[in-house]
Parts: sequence; C-alpha cells; structure tokens
Amino acid sequence: MDKAEKVMNLAMRRGFFWPAYEIYGGVAGTIVWGPHGVAIKNKVINLWRRMFIHKHNFLEIQGPAIAPRIVFEASGHVEGFKDVMVTCLDCGKKYRADTLLSEKGIEVSEALSLSEFDKLIENNDIRCPSCGGRFGNSTYFITMFRTTIGPYSESEGFLRPETAQNMFVEFKRVYESFRRVFPIGIAQIGRGYRNEISPRQGPIRLREFDMMEIEFFFDPENDYCPYYDEVKDEEINILHEELIKRGGADYETMSLEEAVSRGIIRNRCLGYFMVLAVKFLERLGIPREYQRFREKLEGERAHYAVQTFDQEVKLDRWGWVEVSGHANRTDYDLSRHMKFSRKELFAYRKLDKPKKVVIKEAYPMPRVIKEKFGDKIAEIMKELAGFEAKELYELLERDGWVKVAGVKLGKEFFDIRVEEKWVEIEPFIPHVVEPSFGLDRIVYAVLEYAYREVNDRVVLSLPPYVAPMEVAVFPLTSDSELIGLAREIYEDLKSAGYTVFFDDSDSIGRRYARADEVGVPIAVTVDFKSLEDGTVTVRDRDSWVQYRINKDRVVEFIEKVVSGTTFLEVAESMGLERYSQ
Ligand code: ATP
Ligand code: GLY
Repeated sequence: MDKAEKVMNLAMRRGFFWPAYEIYGGVAGTIVWGPHGVAIKNKVINLWRRMFIHKHNFLEIQGPAIAPRIVFEASGHVEGFKDVMVTCLDCGKKYRADTLLSEKGIEVSEALSLSEFDKLIENNDIRCPSCGGRFGNSTYFITMFRTTIGPYSESEGFLRPETAQNMFVEFKRVYESFRRVFPIGIAQIGRGYRNEISPRQGPIRLREFDMMEIEFFFDPENDYCPYYDEVKDEEINILHEELIKRGGADYETMSLEEAVSRGIIRNRCLGYFMVLAVKFLERLGIPREYQRFREKLEGERAHYAVQTFDQEVKLDRWGWVEVSGHANRTDYDLSRHMKFSRKELFAYRKLDKPKKVVIKEAYPMPRVIKEKFGDKIAEIMKELAGFEAKELYELLERDGWVKVAGVKLGKEFFDIRVEEKWVEIEPFIPHVVEPSFGLDRIVYAVLEYAYREVNDRVVLSLPPYVAPMEVAVFPLTSDSELIGLAREIYEDLKSAGYTVFFDDSDSIGRRYARADEVGVPIAVTVDFKSLEDGTVTVRDRDSWVQYRINKDRVVEFIEKVVSGTTFLEVAESMGLERYSQ
C-alpha cells in the first residue's frame, strides 16, 4: 500500500474526505470534505489570510462564480483554456493525452501540437487503460463548465475556472472606493470549476476546488517591491528554464537575491510571494527540501503570462505536484477587459511636473440627431451612451462615421472638441503578479506529510494550529467523579474557543490512539490524583510524553502549543513535572 492509499483510507475511515455521490456510483473529480477536513481547510485558510492578506493590508473580495460569456472571451479562456483529449476507438472512454503519456514515464511539454501528441501515442503504443483499445486522433477540449444565465438559452455563461477574473473586472471599483496607492493587492478565496478530463487522483484533480488567489497590481514604471528586502536572503529551490533544458536535476537551491540577479526571477514581488509560499507550506509541515518551483517554458505557460513558476510538492505516489502557481500576468487581463467592455480601467499616477496634453473628444448633439432621425433618437442615444467621448472622436477620425442603432452618424451630428490642457496626473494600466493557491491539493499534501506509522498505529503529526481539534479530554475510567471533573475541563476549553474531543468509552490506550490518528496534539486526562490535588496530565501526541499540570493552567498550556511553541518547550517553560504511570 503506498502512502496515497493509506492517507485516503484514513480520510475515509475518520471523516476527512471521501468520494461524493457514492450511493449513485460516484462522480469522478468530486469529493466531500467531512468535518475533520473542513476544520483543517478553515485553519489553512486562516493561516493564509494572516500571512498573505492581513500582513500586507490587502483587500479581500467575494465575487460570483458564474460569469457571462464575454468575461471569459475577454480573459482569453474561451479560446485558450483547453486540454488535449484522446478517445478510445473501442470503448469510447476519454483521457487527457499528457496524463496517459506521463503514466508511461514520458513527460511532455504542454506546448506540443495535436499531431505531435498523436505521434507520441502511436510510437509508444499507448493503449486505453480500461480496455486496451487504440486511440483516435487527439482533439482539444474546453475545460470550462458552460451554463445559461436565467431562462433564456442565448444568455450563455461559464463557471469560473479561476477566481482571478472577478478581481480584474472589479479592479476599478476597489481602486476607487478604497483610494489606495500602488501597489494594491486584491485577494479572493473561493471555488474554481474545471471540467477536467477523466480525473483519477482524489483531491489532487477535482472538478471543483477552492482557490486562494491574490492579484497584486503595480505601476509598471515603478515595480519597487516594498517587501523584497525582508526575504531576499531566503533560499528557495528552483527548476529553472536552463536546468530543465540541461536535464537531470530536480532543482537548484539559491537565495531569492541570486535568482533575481541571475535574471531567473524577473519581478521582485513575484519572487517575494514565492518565498512566502515556501514559508507557508513549511508552517503547514512540508519541509523546504520537498518543495520546488518549476519554471513554465514558453508555450507551456497560460496565455496571459510572460513568466510563471509552479510551486510543487513531492508526493509519494504522484511525484512533484503543483500546489500553487506564480504568474506575471502584466496588463494582459485589464487591457483585454478594457477592450471588451469598452470601459476605461485606468489607474492614475501623479506626474513630477504638470504636462500639456491635447484632449480630443466628440459629444453627440441630440437636437441635430432628432431633426434627422425623429423617434429613433431614444435608441440612438442609448447606444451612444456605451461609448466614451474619446472613443467617438477616434471612430469619427478613422471611419468618418459611427454606426449605432442601424444608422451611420457623420461628424455633423457631434460637437467635436480639441483642447489643450495642463494635467498633473496621467492614466496607466496597472500590471499584475499573481500567486494562486489550490487549497484542496495543499490540504492533501499536508495530510500526507503529517502521516506517520508508529508501532502499527497511525499518528497524524499535524502542526497544532491546523489540527482538526486542538485537545482531547479523557476521564481515566468511567468513575462518575472523574467524568464530572473531565466535563468541567471540557466546557472550560470549549469556552476558551477550542474544538475539543471528549471520549469516555474504551480503554485509555485506545482513546489516545483514536485522538493521535486524527491529529489531536494534546490529550488531557483526569485521574484519581486529580480529585485530590486538582492536577491533570497532558500528553503529547508525537512523543507520547506526559506532564502533570494544575487544571487551571490547562487553557494557558493549550494556547501556547496552538500558537506554535512545541509541547515539550511549553512544558519546560511552565515548569511542569514529567509524569509516568
Ligand atoms: P495542472 O497543471 O495540475 O492541471 P494548472 O496548471 O491547471 O494545474 P493552475 O491553473 O495554475 O493549475 O491553478 C492554480 C492552482 O489551483 C494549482 O496550483 C492547484 O493547486 C489548483 N488546481 C488546479 N487544478 C486543480 C484541480 N483540477 N483540482 C484541484 N486543484 C487544482
Ligand atoms: N488564476 C490562476 C490560474 O487559475 O491558473
């Protein structure tokens, strides 16, 4: 049994996650997070919020998951968000071509053409994993879920494959409402939906999953990164372009400063978020040596990016798996939304000294239009309202007319203004770097790294601040006085805000084992000595060592462990007495 199978067994048995819709035979690529899983997810989100949003005073929003088609036409996803699929000629099953090849040890670039995929599949005699049949020619498959908005089928929409577009579409409002100076971070935590082809990897490849994303907007003329110096000496592992082309190595370790000075990471803030991502996973229990960044090569990158690094974690069954993506998206998204929405999404920068500019605008003259077109005026004016005055001027200059409501309006219908003005600010389109995290993959990786077996028992060594429950309370036996005192402590801990596991059935050894298996870091046991002197024992999940502590100090003890100090350090600092039965 490999580790993935062990983790999945534990997840099913103890309610971390399981396949969804099981009573109807299941739906690939969907899971249910159970109570323990939800608890861990929420704590990972809390840590992310602290490290990525609150630390920098970024602005968090929540937008809709359904968007009208035009949003994803503008973003380029309708055209570019696709995978290569092959269909078995015998049984009709469909597979992602790159997954089939990688399962045979052939790693391919996402940049290959359809015919190159066909050749590789043929030359390596790749057959259908289900029936052994041959595959037909490969095709592209758009992996966005399509839907209709409202009862009219022509109002087509998509479920978002990334949360990012909400932040671009709403950028202007956030920028104006919050009057922030650049750089500005906007963050969102929410579901993304992708109609993945034949997903078969549990929480690693889902058809809906939670994302935690930041769009970090900056002025391209001033890409100074205010956080860079804090982390520039931190070492990270990078499988960069040159190393990939040379082949053979998993990664090269270097400081962020070195990566920037060698031109490997070309934007300092992109690098800053990469280091922060490493620290985030470290705090979740994934050591640095099992993390790396893989640079995406030309042709492998998403259509919007000029540079991308995938943060990968080494997993037991699947090898290096991406858990977050770090992309320099430039002004691609805002420019495209400006073009498609025909709304100005500029930000403004203050100039060092005022500058003379020529403003060229055209304003429709309703009276003149009415004279010629009579009652059609309402319709014409409504359509004209969709244009900026500057845009109307440009159209008139270019074509000599503007076509609206089926009529052509020449220059004589407009008040044309060309004025010189002194300005102190000028418009620009912000550029963006984006760290984008997949929560489900991260939680799976955290479980895999926490999973240990000790004397045939499972211990889930989760960091205390992400454990699904912080503390267990056990009366040693079923004596009613012990149960009474244990209940009091249980209530105190709950009032202090902790999630507490109370268990008074079975032998104490079995109860410890059940708590260890779901990662509860501390077990408090009430015994007969407790009734005499008010002390209880606290037991460490990882070392199984116990100390005696006055029951009134238990909350303080838990607080210290949950805030990140190790159990043994806390016991020592509080001067506790080691206990052995
Ligand atoms: P992959 O190459 O594995 O399909 P991707 O390059 O499409 O991933 P991104 O588009 O960069 O992934 O998505 C951002 C993050 O969202 C990923 O780092 C990952 O953690 C998560 N993610 C992407 N697709 C899935 C999925 N199908 N199931 C679960 N998480 C996902
Ligand atoms: N928002 C980044 C991505 O989905 O890849």
